[in-house]
Amino acid sequence: MSFVEAIARKRDGEGLERDDVRAFVEGATRQNLPVEQLAAMLMAICCRGMSADETAWLTGDMLHSGEAWELGSTRPEVIDKHSTGGVGDTVSLVLAPLLASVGVPVAMMAGRGLGHSQGTLDKLEAIPGFSCDHDRPGLDRLLDEAGAAIIAQTEEIAPADRTLYALRDITATVPSLPLIVASIMSKKLALGAGTLILDVKWGTGAFRETVAEAHELATALRRVARDSGVACEALLTDMNQPLGRALGTASEVRAAIDVLSGGGDPRLREVSIKLSEQAMVLRGIDAAAARTRLEASLASGAALSSWNTMVVAHGGDPDPERLPRPERTHEITAMASGFVAAIAADTLGRVAAAVGAGRSRRDEVLAFGAGITVHARLGDRIETGQPLATLEIGERHVDVESLIHRTGAAFEIAAAPPVVPALVLGTVDEVDPTAIPGR
Ligand code: URA
Repeated sequence: MSFVEAIARKRDGEGLERDDVRAFVEGATRQNLPVEQLAAMLMAICCRGMSADETAWLTGDMLHSGEAWELGSTRPEVIDKHSTGGVGDTVSLVLAPLLASVGVPVAMMAGRGLGHSQGTLDKLEAIPGFSCDHDRPGLDRLLDEAGAAIIAQTEEIAPADRTLYALRDITATVPSLPLIVASIMSKKLALGAGTLILDVKWGTGAFRETVAEAHELATALRRVARDSGVACEALLTDMNQPLGRALGTASEVRAAIDVLSGGGDPRLREVSIKLSEQAMVLRGIDAAAARTRLEASLASGAALSSWNTMVVAHGGDPDPERLPRPERTHEITAMASGFVAAIAADTLGRVAAAVGAGRSRRDEVLAFGAGITVHARLGDRIETGQPLATLEIGERHVDVESLIHRTGAAFEIAAAPPVVPALVLGTVDEVDPTAIPGR
């Protein structure tokens, strides 16, 4: 049967056959289907969706388009963590050394900045000498030396995703739920950790803005993981304002070090502990006991020592004084008194990317000292002239006036206090997706 017929069937809302999905992924991997047909199938899937079976086939075929590292078979104790992405989301930098410090090893393949969200690899590369490029033996060495490894996806992992992701980007098909699930899970399953903890964000700075949309994504991701034999839980967490106060690269490393030193931003600390706790629950540890161990590690310096070991194992200099700093800063203050009623986290993420923490072209050089520090939080009472945020300017040439304006406009001040969403809504099973109407 020709691939055109498969496209037509999906276009008309019929199901795909097992072989259709196979041909699609092979076509993306070997490039033996015209790119027009790949793009047409992506659009048909985007408009018509996919059944659970079709999504599982697509994920499995994308996973097997490249190497499968099967980490769980040699190191069943290792945990992987994934966030659907947000702003000021520095959790991976805290969680990996924190869990390692309580004897739970962590391996992650992380990404670079995407859209308004800063990338874990970009943050780590702000540390002088830190390298994220490691092959499978390199991953084993990192786990042996530090119990925590954060590495870049290699060329051999899920090559079909690379082709399809690039096509999705230019065909307006990125938001499709089954395409997102297959893209994320093919890479997670290629690493192959036996345990996976998912942080699915909802809100203005998230990929999926409403609780219902985030819940749908969390359910689908967890289903694919569990069906593949991975112990998996998904937590829904708030992204209606930046998670931590630091948005950038070096500044987010500093924010992580602050939490690992026993202090830091309370929201970043709480989400990091909660996800770590859930990961330990998946490993059979009682939740209360897990939290006690995690908090003790943060208080005693063990978590910070684990961070230093992880940085050194990756070739980095753990001295925080060596982290880049902004060349100059500009404070953005409130033009009126009132309550902080809304914060456009996505706008702040885009400004942080524009000032130097992200790229508008693949080869653009980051300004590691640049970013934003957020001072005002949702629900805060603010007086005229009080600082809302600080724009941190690095070596990138930017239109400072326009970035200052966009930063200020991201904060909405109102006479009445807003309802501040809970930081952690709970696991997929604990959250009622209809409970927050209109969001
Ligand atoms: N992250 C991915 O890797 N793929 C998606 O489609 C979305 C987020």
